[in-house]
Amino acid sequence: MANENKLQNIISHCKEYGFIFPSSEIYDGLSAVYDYGQYGAELKRNIRDYWWRSMTQMNDNIVGIDAAIFMHPTVWKASGHVDNFSDPMIDNKDSQKRYRVDHLIEGYAETLPEAEATAVLAEMDHLLAANDFSGLKQFVEDKKIKCGVSGTSNWTDVRQFNLMFSTEVGSVAEDASTIYLRPETAQGIFVNFLNVQKTARMKIPFGIAQTGKAFRNEIVARQFIFRMREFEQMEMQFFIKPGTQKEWYEYWKEARMKWHLGLGISADKYRFHDHVKLAHYADAACDIEYDFTFGFKELEGIHSRTDFDLKQHQEYSGKKLTYFDTEINQHYVPYVIETSIGLDRTVLMILSEAYEEEDLSTADKQDSRSLLRIPAMLAPIKLAIFPLTKKDGLPEMAKQLIEECKPYFKCFYEEKDAIGKRYRRQDAIGTPFCVTIDHQTKEDNTVTIRHRDSMLQERMPLSEIRQYIQEQTKMF
Ligand code: GAP
Repeated sequence: MANENKLQNIISHCKEYGFIFPSSEIYDGLSAVYDYGQYGAELKRNIRDYWWRSMTQMNDNIVGIDAAIFMHPTVWKASGHVDNFSDPMIDNKDSQKRYRVDHLIEGYAETLPEAEATAVLAEMDHLLAANDFSGLKQFVEDKKIKCGVSGTSNWTDVRQFNLMFSTEVGSVAEDASTIYLRPETAQGIFVNFLNVQKTARMKIPFGIAQTGKAFRNEIVARQFIFRMREFEQMEMQFFIKPGTQKEWYEYWKEARMKWHLGLGISADKYRFHDHVKLAHYADAACDIEYDFTFGFKELEGIHSRTDFDLKQHQEYSGKKLTYFDTEINQHYVPYVIETSIGLDRTVLMILSEAYEEEDLSTADKQDSRSLLRIPAMLAPIKLAIFPLTKKDGLPEMAKQLIEECKPYFKCFYEEKDAIGKRYRRQDAIGTPFCVTIDHQTKEDNTVTIRHRDSMLQERMPLSEIRQYIQEQTKMF
């Protein structure tokens, strides 16, 4: 399947099967905002749980918090977001369409042979790193890059646009003050660094993890849930002794790549991309990129954030944010290694890996099925239970199995339609196992268990089903 079609097919599949809907769809949607439906919400929650448990349960020295979205406005002054959190944009004067200049150039590079594209991207990186906006405009003009809407190269200067959304707190206009919707969850961790360190009696090195919504006024919104205005992050700040940042940066690069490979996705679908232009807070940074249907793109960032954030908050708040290291009898402001992954992008990655239109045609019959090969531990529904018919006591036996299993994992019951149709519906939502209760069950207490990926069916004692599914869908 061509890759452009694959993304479109994934989008349609997500809508048809209750994974992801455009926001406020009955009002024609809201650009770059999406709602998760009944299966999408389960999938997303399972991915979030897997990340959360990998961080806070499998590491003795990482704890999790849940900070508020609204924060004191000075947080964003201290963090540098008020002054620096912007993208270089360029407008086409004829269509009035606005582009992020790096996206415009990247789009152009995609149309070129590989060697030429590499050279164009290298030149772009160089200009971006130097904040050379007039150079960028010149580059766009020299390459005669055209606007997709007007087809012309009539461009404005390149300008910076801040990506933060603001709103007001306070009921009376005169008293209201401007606050921001957080553009990253990380700052909620920094401002709570001492609260957590003291109350959990954490010793460096230690981490604080958090998942939650972040908001960015992305000017160019595209590629489905890849770039949204409201999205969710899963971030972890790892507090370390100054001078040890290089080794911890390497440690977390390796640990995070291992996490990704643990999802069963092959190594050649990932790559590291070192940042040429470092963010204002970093002394080293890279992305873990995944090969989406539209090419390798950032999925996760790993940043060596130095002591920038804690020092800034110390300065702006006037409160000490130091740690007393009993091993060396010294106070210091810790350095930080951050791992930051987009939950929605991870959902898109899992769906891209999982989605398949499988041709099942034989010499005499055309056949195919849509399926999602979602890792069993992340599947929205773990087990579907079907009575073969609606009578002879089979539904009662099926419901008894549901009652036994549902405290442990998510089940689904259905008695309508032919069994083959029911299997196909579960394939389409990624259910790894279906169990059918038939007349033989009444005789020997065995059931048919059907495996999504292989479509193989085998008989198993009814009494072993719960434990078997638990074993097959466990995270650790
Ligand atoms: N605290 C560091 C930070 O926020 P980032 O690279 O700007 O770093 C981290 O964002 C991750 O958040 C990205 O790797 C990406 O997965 C996700 N992300 C960023 N902007 C996003 C957007 N507009 N829509 C969906 N996910 C986004």
